[in-house]
Amino acid sequence: MENTTDNKKTVLSGIQPTGTITLGNYLGAVQNWQRMQEDFNSVFFIADLHALTVRREPAEFRQTSLDFFAQYLACGLDPEKCILYFQSHVRQHAELQWILNCNTYVGETSRMTQFKDKSAKHADNINMGLMDYPVLMAADILLYQTDLVPVGIDQKQHLELTRDIAIRFNNRYGETFTVPEAYIPKEGAKICSLQDPTAKMSKSDPDQNASVSIVDDEATIVRKFKRAVTDSGNEICVREDKPGITNLINIYSAIEHKAVSEVETEFVGQGYGSFKIAVGEAVAAAFKPVREAYHTLIKDKGQLSAIAKNGAERAASLAEKTLRKVKKRVGLVAF
Ligand code: TRP
Repeated sequence: MENTTDNKKTVLSGIQPTGTITLGNYLGAVQNWQRMQEDFNSVFFIADLHALTVRREPAEFRQTSLDFFAQYLACGLDPEKCILYFQSHVRQHAELQWILNCNTYVGETSRMTQFKDKSAKHADNINMGLMDYPVLMAADILLYQTDLVPVGIDQKQHLELTRDIAIRFNNRYGETFTVPEAYIPKEGAKICSLQDPTAKMSKSDPDQNASVSIVDDEATIVRKFKRAVTDSGNEICVREDKPGITNLINIYSAIEHKAVSEVETEFVGQGYGSFKIAVGEAVAAAFKPVREAYHTLIKDKGQLSAIAKNGAERAASLAEKTLRKVKKRVGLVAF
């Protein structure tokens, strides 16, 4: 990764440590990251500073942040193959954000869809961070001269703003930043809520039965699938008027690496009840190694801290190169 003479592109992504990593996050994103670390220079971090834009209970927040870190490792993100760290451990993120702030207009950040949505949702706490969120995200991305950012639809607007900021800065001060592109990975499965199969499975859904955590124990996983909302009728097939069964088929197909048609054939003539149990058991079995690795790691604070420290050091040394250049470009004194 530190070897910038190779031709590999740099990929970067962050995740906010809120709620729990779900089956949906895993199949839609984390699994792709695992593949990316083989083909790209990969930078992955826990976006803990971003999470502070909403009020958090400190002790719980700290634990969730550690959990996310341990779960990433348990999922197969390999600190030998990627750079993995906590955003707050690399001060260059916040420092670059300030300089980018001075090159971003209030009109740009205040018209972001997510800012408007979150302002409506947290009307009693429309803090500066909430509006500045996308500028910190721009700093995250631009610090590492990132080529590709895997983003879901909800973050596309933020990536567009990052590109605008990078292009503007480059025009104003001379070539400084790589202008990043969105990376749409190969068709990740879109996993929906088990309680409302028309909505995406969300890691912060307050309904415990709506999502499955990748570290839920076997009994919990099977129980949640047993309770999954299904549709009228009794046929196990993918169809527009069957969002519940379609979601379960998609999950099973992704977990078992089987085509949807194969899954439909496998369950011909079976009832919803036994199908739901089969999906739950398959998911529980697939995540057993992740669950076990997580429980071992989370008890080993020494190892977690060593990995996090090493990740932050490697990240900081790359980030510092960009930051030094930026400071020079804008005319800050350096001796
Ligand atoms: N805003 C992203 C999300 O909520 C998380 C994030 C923070 C991120 N910084 C990033 C994603 C940089 C990609 C690149 O999903």
